[in-house]
Amino acid sequence: MPRHIAIIMDGNGRWAKLRGMPRVMGHRQGVLALKPIVKACAHLGVNVLTVYAFSTENWARPATEVNGLMDLLVEFLRSETQELKLEGVSIRTIGDIAPLAQRAQRALQEAAESTAEQSRMILNLAVNYGGRDELVRAVNRWLSTLGTKSREGPLAVTQEVIARHLDSAGMPDPDLLIRAGGEARVSNFMLWQIAYTELYVTDTLWPDFDPRTLAMAIRSFQSRSRRFGALES
Ligand code: FPP
Repeated sequence: MPRHIAIIMDGNGRWAKLRGMPRVMGHRQGVLALKPIVKACAHLGVNVLTVYAFSTENWARPATEVNGLMDLLVEFLRSETQELKLEGVSIRTIGDIAPLAQRAQRALQEAAESTAEQSRMILNLAVNYGGRDELVRAVNRWLSTLGTKSREGPLAVTQEVIARHLDSAGMPDPDLLIRAGGEARVSNFMLWQIAYTELYVTDTLWPDFDPRTLAMAIRSFQSRSRRFGALES
């Protein structure tokens, strides 16, 4: 079983368009699709599920869509946190939440605080998340810890230092990255962490993604031979 599954929930807009609905209705249906996937992952023994809810590039969408996505996020947290807590799910965020509306920041903080003790699975919400932005923030975070202390020897960053300052510090890298909606690209998602992640792209649009689609992705993952750049042992 993958320890960490990451998902790009793409295709909401197309799902809505196919039905003559506004794009936000596709996102609303996308939230409905997410709930059974979170539960299925927790029941299957997945340790971390990371979902791409809002990217650093999504601000370029019309204000109605951006606001609609924020409303859905707050609604999701208000309505689901208690049930997820009972399922043993701890809710966390990756991404820079400082530019979000106060109510979204508060909802994310409250959900994280209220579920902090849960240890069955982490649900990581990627909000205002960009892989490049995360790397820049990680390096800056490290630089700010150095302060003005005197140092011996040249200053050098290492892979371990970067990993330790990422938003995802302490979590295993994703074993499996699932992308719904058929496009075969990474879209600035977890650039550092997916170095050796297995990719699975499905044409299924995210609102139609269900636990059977998840099972197919996991079966595909289980049939692969992961060598991490080495030879088969
Ligand atoms: C991509 O679909 C999806 C998004 C930009 C947002 C995903 C968000 C949700 C599923 C809902 C909010 C999340 C939570 C956790 C409450 P798209 O609009 O790019 O689809 P398209 O490619 O068909 O246009």
